[in-house]
Amino acid sequence: MISDNDYLSLKQWLEETRDVPLEAMDAFFNARIGDYEEHMSQWAAHYRWMAELIPDSTKTLLDIGCGTGLELDTIFARLPDLQVTGIDMAEEMLSKLREKHGNRNLTLIRDDYFRHPFGESVYDGVISFETLHHFPAETKTRLLEKICRALKPGGFYLECDYIASSQAIEDLVFTEAARRRERDRIPPDTFVHFDTPLTLEHEMDAMRDAGFSTVELVGFLPDDNHTAMIRGIK
Ligand SMILES: C[S@@+](CC[C@H](N)C(=O)[O-])C[C@H]1O[C@@H](n2cnc3c(N)ncnc32)[C@H](O)[C@@H]1O
Repeated sequence: MISDNDYLSLKQWLEETRDVPLEAMDAFFNARIGDYEEHMSQWAAHYRWMAELIPDSTKTLLDIGCGTGLELDTIFARLPDLQVTGIDMAEEMLSKLREKHGNRNLTLIRDDYFRHPFGESVYDGVISFETLHHFPAETKTRLLEKICRALKPGGFYLECDYIASSQAIEDLVFTEAARRRERDRIPPDTFVHFDTPLTLEHEMDAMRDAGFSTVELVGFLPDDNHTAMIRGIK
């Protein structure tokens, strides 16, 4: 999985964008609502794959960072009666999701998923798609602990997300994130949009540390070694 080309092209992109100011997380996504779904269509096969992995017996599902619900488009096509709670901090993204699936059994919450209480043993499954690659491991583990508590015994957590293909890439993005945050005087508890993926090993360690009884790599799709599907079972 380690590729020098990934490192070099990322380094070049970071150089080219080095003076671009950071944007607050919700403002970033709200401002891009116009072409968001087209941009994300490169993950169409991953959305279908996630839907196939949801067990038929699932009745209640929590989607953290649901955005416009691209993963829910494929999941509702398979399981139309599913009871879904979606949480996202960007109102424009939620409005689009409401437009598409307002007729479903869907509760939408505009909030920060780190702060919002999820409850205890309430969901058969929790999913996240391309939302957790913005946070360091310790912050992620606290959230994953909350996800684990929110699952019923034996419940599943499915995560499909951007993975750093080497330790050098993980180090590079976290160093650059720290530089840009300091430059823009971003307070420590403020979320900005800047991708800081962990290596697969660190991502899976964060899930193990959160208390899942099993953590497994479901896999990567052919021709994409940056987007991993990982499953944790409570
Ligand atoms: C790349 S989008 C993915 C959205 C959707 N899962 C998809 O695949 O289309 C990331 C989403 O995570 C949301 N997000 C990021 N951090 C968040 C937080 N702390 N609380 C709630 N939502 C957050 C953003 O607002 C954005 O809608």
